[in-house]
Amino acid sequence: MAASKPLIAGNWKMFGRQADLGEIALLASRVGRVSEVIDVLVCPPAPMVAVAAWRAKDTSVLIGAQDCSAVAADSARTGDVSAAMLADAGARYVIVGHSERRTIFGETDAVVRAKAEAALTAGLIPIVCVGETHSERAGGRLGEVVARQIQDSIPQTGGTFVVAYEPVWAIGGNATPTLAEIADVHDLIGKTLAGRSMGARILYGGSVNPKNAGEIFGAPGVDGALVGRASLKADDFSAIILAHPAAS
Ligand code: 13P
Repeated sequence: MAASKPLIAGNWKMFGRQADLGEIALLASRVGRVSEVIDVLVCPPAPMVAVAAWRAKDTSVLIGAQDCSAVAADSARTGDVSAAMLADAGARYVIVGHSERRTIFGETDAVVRAKAEAALTAGLIPIVCVGETHSERAGGRLGEVVARQIQDSIPQTGGTFVVAYEPVWAIGGNATPTLAEIADVHDLIGKTLAGRSMGARILYGGSVNPKNAGEIFGAPGVDGALVGRASLKADDFSAIILAHPAAS
């Protein structure tokens, strides 16, 4: 699949306060003109999206959100945040179907797809996460699980979206798949998407850090990364971005 500009996205999860938004300006100064060849995205928690977008507006760093409502229209849904509200706050992307949402909050593929479609309706680019658990992998079901998640979670309405392959067992620890394993799954995702997307970028996520980023970016079919812990500090996140071959 023809890859366009790489995308390296930081998912702050439920960490950070407004005082930490200074990391965004620091990140922008560290990556400098590299953002002309790599899309650099930070997804802070929802209450910080508007302030983050305001502070990032004169920099090359893009701001996104970590989740959105599956319902596109303004409606009586206490506590929910619509994709249109996130777009209005300055978000450009939104992560949907992260494994933490799927496991902790019980989000199904159908819910994830509805969220991705709501994001597109609002003019946001959804980053649809997929990935197998340790037991699914051990049981030889990796391919089946990831293909099903792709088929059932990606938007059916057309439009630009991103897929993030995040093996659940690789999140928040130190282990990552081998480069060959990452390449195989990205190839499977590309084939499953064939005919259903206009060159969707496929990111790898799960324990990406400044030490392993360079080789992960070199794996075939990897169009960037979705980074958790190592995106919280500009030092680490900029080192990851600068490790991309396009940065040199
Ligand atoms: P870590 O990079 O902390 O393993 O988290 C990955 C992730 O879940 C990003 O969405």
